[in-house]
Parts: sequence; C-alpha cells; structure tokens
Amino acid sequence: MTRVGYRIALIPGDGIGAEVVPPAAAVLQAIGHRHGITFDFDEFDWSCQRYVHEGAMMPTDGIDTIRGHDAILLGAVGWQGVPDSISLWGLLIPLRRAFHQYVNLRPIMVFDGVRSPLTAAKDATRVDGVDFVIVRENVEGEYSEIGGRMNRGLASEQAIQTAVFTRPGISRVAEYAFGLAAGRRGRVTSATKSNGIVHTMPFWDEVVSEVAEDHPGVALRSEHIDALAAKIVLEPAAFDVIVASNLFGDVLSDLAAAVAGSIGIAPSGNLNPEREFPSMFEPVHGSAPDIAGRDLANPVGAIWSAAMMLEHLGHREAATEILDAVRALFVDGIRTRDIGGSAGTAEFTRELLKRID
Ligand code: NAI
Ligand code: MG
Repeated sequence: MTRVGYRIALIPGDGIGAEVVPPAAAVLQAIGHRHGITFDFDEFDWSCQRYVHEGAMMPTDGIDTIRGHDAILLGAVGWQGVPDSISLWGLLIPLRRAFHQYVNLRPIMVFDGVRSPLTAAKDATRVDGVDFVIVRENVEGEYSEIGGRMNRGLASEQAIQTAVFTRPGISRVAEYAFGLAAGRRGRVTSATKSNGIVHTMPFWDEVVSEVAEDHPGVALRSEHIDALAAKIVLEPAAFDVIVASNLFGDVLSDLAAAVAGSIGIAPSGNLNPEREFPSMFEPVHGSAPDIAGRDLANPVGAIWSAAMMLEHLGHREAATEILDAVRALFVDGIRTRDIGGSAGTAEFTRELLKRID
C-alpha cells in the first residue's frame, strides 16, 4: 500500500537554486492534490550564504535533522567568494555519503520543441528517440579524500590523489543499472578506461561482468570513456543505460545534458535504493550567478527532479503526469529563454500549474 503523506526537506541553496525549488514544490503540491498525496515541506537555509555568516554550510547536527525525512529536494549550492570545494564537501558530499546515496541517476531525453545543439547538424534525425539514463557511482571512486600535497611552493611540489574502488561499491551500482535496464530496453553500457588506468578500471570491468552474469536478459557492452563520449554526441539514440564511476559519470552526464538541449532541463536523483535513508533530488545545474535574481532560470531541471522523487516514493503515474505537462508546454511554445522561448521562471511555472490543474 503506497503511503500518501510525506515530509520533504527543502534545501534551496544559492543563486537560482532558491528560484527553482519553490516552483518544484508548487508542482508537487498541485499534483499531490490530484492524487491524494500530501507533502509537508521543511525548509533549510543551508548554503554558501549561511557559510559566510556562520562558518558552515549546514549545522553540525544537520544530517541528523533530516535523517527521518522521506526525501530531500535541493536547488544548487555555490557562490562567489566561497570555494566550490567548500560547498561540495560541506554539504552535497556529506549528505550523499551519510545517507548511502550510492546511485546518482540522470535521465536524458530530447523533448519535442527543444533545440538540441545536434538538431542543427546535417542529420538532425540522430536526436530522434534519445532516451537514456546515466547511472553514476556516487560515493566512492575518484572523488576520494585520500592523498595529499607536499613540498608546496618548491620546484619539487607534488600532489597525489588516490581513487578508491570497492567490490561492494561497484557491484551494488552495477546491480542497480542492470535492474533498471531490465525494465527498459535491456542494454547496459559500462564506461571504462582499462587500457590507461590499469588497476581500478580492470577491477571495475571484472565486477560489472560478474553482475552481468546474473542478468542474462540484459546485454552488456564496455566502452572506453573517450570513445563513449564521442559516441554520445554522434549517436545518442543508441544508448539505454550507461553505468559509470563517479568521475566518468559526472562528466558524461553534463555532456549528455548539453546534447539534450540545456543544462536547465536536466534532473538527477541521489538514491539510497534500500530506502534506509532519504534520497535527494536536485537539478544538474548549479547556482548560475550570471542569471540569478532575474526570473530567467529554467525551473524544469528542478521540476523533473521532483517528478523523479515522486517516482522513487512509488507514484509513477503522478510523476509521468508532471513530465507530460512539461512536454505539452514545450510543444505549445511555452519555454524559458535558455531553450529558445521567452517565458520567465514565474510565467512558465504559472502555465505549468494551470496545465496540471
Ligand atoms: P551552472 O550550471 O550554474 O551554470 C552554467 C551555465 O548554464 C550558466 O550560463 C547558467 O546561466 C546556465 N544555466 C544553468 N542552469 C540554468 C537554468 N536552470 N536555466 C537557465 N540557464 C541555466 O554552472 P557553473 O556556472 O559552472 O557554476 C556556478 C556555481 O554553481 C558554482 O559555484 C558551482 O560550484 C555551482 N554548482 C553547483 C552544483 C550543485 O549544487 N549541484 C552543480 C554545478 C555547479
Ligand atoms: Mg557535475
């Protein structure tokens, strides 16, 4: 039996994060109304602004404060004067790790009415039917704290950073990717670089192949990350599910979001598949200081992220209705400027809410 009341932690963050989270929350309320789902939102001011005033992105008991929530909806963090490493390691990475959000899920679709940079290409048809999902490992791999700097400022200065790949870490993210592909078109592409990175990547390949053996209905292909990046541009419709390490998945998903038309549309979910902890949903884009405060932000990345949250909570039908409403607005020409329209954040949101009602 699906539950009908949820407590959601809202972390708008910095810049346009604070402009796109309220539309996403409003869309959740509206769709909830139609489906008998209620949301209690608790808003937190965790951000670079907070860091400037209080010396920390979030309070020391921040993680415990939201441990009991059903999900987290985050805008974006990052602001001038605060190093990006602080906003990342002071908020996003601790939340992802404390809540075992080891899958970062990033769906990529090219919508009708949205110009992909590839649409201008001679064979514009290659964007037809682009619909794939990147499953990025989210808590280990290349983004590790192991390493150091020595001989700072000397001619012999050096830096060492050690990637950490574990058997449980690789197999659980691969397991998720194969499970997902089984419910889609049955194809997993694994990003590797075993020719250049001779310890961790062959290990990644081995564990992914072992997991593949338990999923005979799903086809596995391994591709080197460089060739794979090129193929996402040249043949984006060829992919179903791509599984990748933390760094490779991070880079591929921004590339893929750009291929789909705008970073302003791309959503993501940081999932704890076992549901022992809240999962966190956030647009792929950052705080966009260049357009902040001017009603220019595309709220679709945040709204689609909210739809992913609904799906994670077990309301697939409601999630699909949100995406259908977005798709219909695009086709009607109601779009923000980043994707060739003229609507502001507020107008786009108003029209979407009308469509949902
Ligand atoms: P960004 O994603 O904020 O902006 C890149 C470009 O895309 C800008 O020209 C921006 O105007 C445009 N853009 C982004 N989102 C948009 C939207 N919703 N609608 C219309 N246009 C949009 O990336 P950037 O400039 O590299 O980073 C800015 C700050 O955001 C930095 O402090 C960075 O660390 C932070 N950041 C935070 C992330 C997060 O919270 N998960 C992710 C990426 C960056
Ligand atoms: Mg990124």
